Amino acid sequence: SKIQNFNIVYHPHKITKSDRSKIKGHKPCIIWLTGLSGSGKSTIANALEEKLNRMHVHTYLLDGDNIRHGLNKDLGFSIEDRKENIRRISEVAKLFVDAGLIVITAFISPFREERNYARSLVRSDEFIEVFVDTPIEVCEQRDPKGLYKKARKGEIKEFTGIDSPYEPPLSPEIHLKTDKLSVNECVEKIVIFLKAKKII
Ligand code: PPS
Repeated sequence: SKIQNFNIVYHPHKITKSDRSKIKGHKPCIIWLTGLSGSGKSTIANALEEKLNRMHVHTYLLDGDNIRHGLNKDLGFSIEDRKENIRRISEVAKLFVDAGLIVITAFISPFREERNYARSLVRSDEFIEVFVDTPIEVCEQRDPKGLYKKARKGEIKEFTGIDSPYEPPLSPEIHLKTDKLSVNECVEKIVIFLKAKKII
C-alpha cells in the first residue's frame, strides 16, 4: 500500500541552490561511478575526492561504508533491495547537489533503469556517469574481500557478475578501462572532463 502524500506542500526556501553554489566557486554535480565488485570504484572515488579537496572543491563521497551501514542497513542484495538501495542513494545525491556539492557515488548500481532514474533527478549537465570497466576475470583475480571465491563456492548467493546481472552503461560520459589506466590516470580523466564542462 502506497502512502499518500498529497497534503504535503513544499515551502519555498529563501536561499536557493544557485545562492549556495555561488559562494562555493564551482558548480554542483553527481559523479556516478558504476562497475563490478572489485572493479576499483572506491579506490578511484577516494583518489578523486582527495584531488578535488586539494583543489578546494566541496565534495561528498557516498559509498557502501557510509550507506549500507547506516541509511540502508535494512537492505540486502536481492534485485528489489538493490533497486531500493540505488533509489535512496539517488535522492540523497540530489539533496547534496541542491546543497551545492560535487557528489561522488561508488556503488555497483547494476541496473540501467535505476542509474537513469538517478540521472533524471538532476539537470542533464549535472550527471556524469563513469563506467569503471574492469573485466570480471581481473576483478575475480584481485578479489580483495574474497567474495568471488565465496560466490563461486555458492557461499554467497546473487553475487553480481556470477549469479546476479550487471548491465554495463551504453553511453557513459566517461569510460575508464582500468586494466589500461592507472588510478591517477582515471582521476585525471575525470578532472579534465569537469574542467572542460566548466564545472570546476
Ligand atoms: S548495489 O548492487 O549497487 O546495491 O551494491 P553496493 O551497494 O554497491 O554494494 C556492493 C558491495 O557489497 C559487497 N557484497 C556484494 N556485492 C555484490 N553482490 C553481492 N551478493 C554482495 N554481497 C556483498 C561487495 O563487497 C560490494 O563491494 P564493492 O566495493 O563493490 O566491491
